[in-house]
Amino acid sequence: MKSQSAPAKYLIFATVIVALVLPLSLATDMAAQDYASFGMRLTARLSAAFFLLAYVARPLLELTGVGRQLVRHRRYLGLAAALAHTVHAWFIYDYFRIIGESIEPLVLIGGGGAFIALWLMALTSNNASQRWLGANWQRLHRFGMHYLWLIFFQTLLGIALVNAAYWPAVAAFGLAALLRLRAWQARRKRASAAA
Ligand code: HEM
Repeated sequence: MKSQSAPAKYLIFATVIVALVLPLSLATDMAAQDYASFGMRLTARLSAAFFLLAYVARPLLELTGVGRQLVRHRRYLGLAAALAHTVHAWFIYDYFRIIGESIEPLVLIGGGGAFIALWLMALTSNNASQRWLGANWQRLHRFGMHYLWLIFFQTLLGIALVNAAYWPAVAAFGLAALLRLRAWQARRKRASAAA
């Protein structure tokens, strides 16, 4: 991957840090449980937004010619999503500590697996890891992207079924997957035409 322009990557990190710190520092008069719940929603939403931008960057460019800057800064969009989601993990810990309940095993396995995938992707989002892992880097990042998409999608769908305000988010994730599918089909078509 080409080296990134410094101002853009700092802008991405500054955006995610301000978007995390500002609402959290303004909402301190909430009860502890409400605050943890607010923190979980805020961090998940921020992470979803940055993830979605990284997820659609390449197919969008391939299909429409738009989004070159998104592709250039995909690594930092992914790292911003990982940062926001790491704070999600902290609020999950805090929330379940406050309510005194444990996380359901299925959620722990599915969601915990997504955290492991996300952190592995973040740790290997550098040129040295990319060179060292070779084809396995592609495998890890492709699998991780789809796995994270699945967890976001099923979480948002589950909430949308009881709260209609979440349908636009479900639609955004659905459209993003269709975009990737369409770009994959176009790539296959080009490859078979060239063979
Ligand atoms: C052990 C793993 C996880 C647990 C226990 C967990 C728990 C929660 C809880 C309790 C909420 C609801 C907060 C509230 O409304 O009060 C929430 C929200 C959410 N989580 Fe997580 N989560 C986990 C991992 C993940 C992962 C890996 C993703 C995505 C890849 C994710 C995405 C979301 C989303 C999209 C929301 C909805 C935010 C909103 O309401 O706008 N979570 N999570």
